[in-house]
Amino acid sequence: MSENFVKVAEANEIAPSSMKAVEVEGEKVCIINTEGTLYAIGNICTHVGGPLDEGTLEGYEVECPWHGSKFDVRTGEPTKPPAVRAVPKYEVKIDGNNILVRKQK
Ligand code: FES
Repeated sequence: MSENFVKVAEANEIAPSSMKAVEVEGEKVCIINTEGTLYAIGNICTHVGGPLDEGTLEGYEVECPWHGSKFDVRTGEPTKPPAVRAVPKYEVKIDGNNILVRKQK
């Protein structure tokens, strides 16, 4: 696994209270903008693989569009079943107008 941050988007591409699917070194990642703070978690629901970026965002929780599992975007931990396993968590850094992400160890 690389130690490096990878550019995934420009800051103005992700409006407040929206999400965007990107790829980081072959992994599907969901970038979340909660009222101006950016988070990044795995985009594939740990239940049976729903695309979290197509779900709904409410506060710090994203709801999977397929069966309603919820995940805390700050930690990747599930907050509502059927999912019971966390999605990966990524670090986010802003550099000028670039959003950079790296997998959290
Ligand atoms: S795939 Fe996400 S809740 Fe089932």
